[in-house]
Amino acid sequence: MINLSIKIGNLRLKNPVILASGTSGPEQKEFTNLKKLGAIITKSITPMSTIGNPLPRTVETSTGMLNSIGIENPGAQKFIEEKLPGFLSLNIPVIVSVAGKTQDEYIEVIKRFENTPVSGFEINVSCPNVKKGSIEFGKEPQVLEELTSKMRKATSKPIIIKLSPNVSNIQSLALAAENEGADAISLINTIYGLKINLETKLSELGSITGGLSGPCVKPVALYYVYKVSQVCKIPIIGIGGIMTTQDALEFIVTGASAIELGTVNFVNPNAGVEILSGIKNYCERQGIKSLKKLIGSRNF
Ligand SMILES: Cc1cc2nc3c(=O)[nH]c(=O)nc-3n(C[C@H](O)[C@H](O)[C@H](O)COP(=O)(O)O)c2cc1C
Repeated sequence: MINLSIKIGNLRLKNPVILASGTSGPEQKEFTNLKKLGAIITKSITPMSTIGNPLPRTVETSTGMLNSIGIENPGAQKFIEEKLPGFLSLNIPVIVSVAGKTQDEYIEVIKRFENTPVSGFEINVSCPNVKKGSIEFGKEPQVLEELTSKMRKATSKPIIIKLSPNVSNIQSLALAAENEGADAISLINTIYGLKINLETKLSELGSITGGLSGPCVKPVALYYVYKVSQVCKIPIIGIGGIMTTQDALEFIVTGASAIELGTVNFVNPNAGVEILSGIKNYCERQGIKSLKKLIGSRNF
């Protein structure tokens, strides 16, 4: 038996494979056995419903995709009533992605979920597709520090701070979150991007710019995991372009304790289960009994 479990604050996941915010939901169980996975993260949720951005909201690019959903969601209360039961019925830890335009909005979402059986919060301070909030809280260390400290007081559940690659000071941001009691750092959210239609000379997205994800962002994401692993002691969750077992293992060896799968869910909804079994096989072949031995085992 290989021990693939990991801990994020007081939350133990049976394995490190997590489905990323905005790219998955209970409906995926028609195509795969979601019960096998470590955890699932909800779409980002705001206190009140958010309509989202004009269409089109997604477009393919070479080796990736652009999206500009704009955090469309029904609002915390309606989500709890209508969507949360579907997530909880999966019998794996459900992590709520939290977004807001102000500090108070982040706290409000957390308080709404505090007495539900969700297992923790991933804080979206990194969405590139909304005009107000989100990434504004993930650019300046002092701003992130203040938000993290307030959220820490509002919940005893684990807090994961999801950072953006669209910043110049990733290490100070990660440290600010760690110092104020965050239980983990996840990264990366999408990278600013644009695609032009040469016939119309318009953008291919209704909101003009979007966020880039998929295989093309993997080296960027690995770089950020590396940089954060040099300064932080709390677990890092690697996200960005993970399509295969090899990709997932590269993140773990670089320093990620867990990984999140995003764009791959649209291409192969069974990827999580396949990657999990690939990680197990790799550990078996290498004689590794515990995932902990592999995390951050890079030779540089
Ligand atoms: C269609 C789509 C919607 C997304 N929605 C959210 C969201 O609501 N909140 C969030 O934190 N990240 C969101 N993301 C970002 C992903 O969770 C992930 O960080 C990013 O796509 C990079 O991983 P990937 O290359 O594996 O997709 C979204 C990504 C996509 C493609």
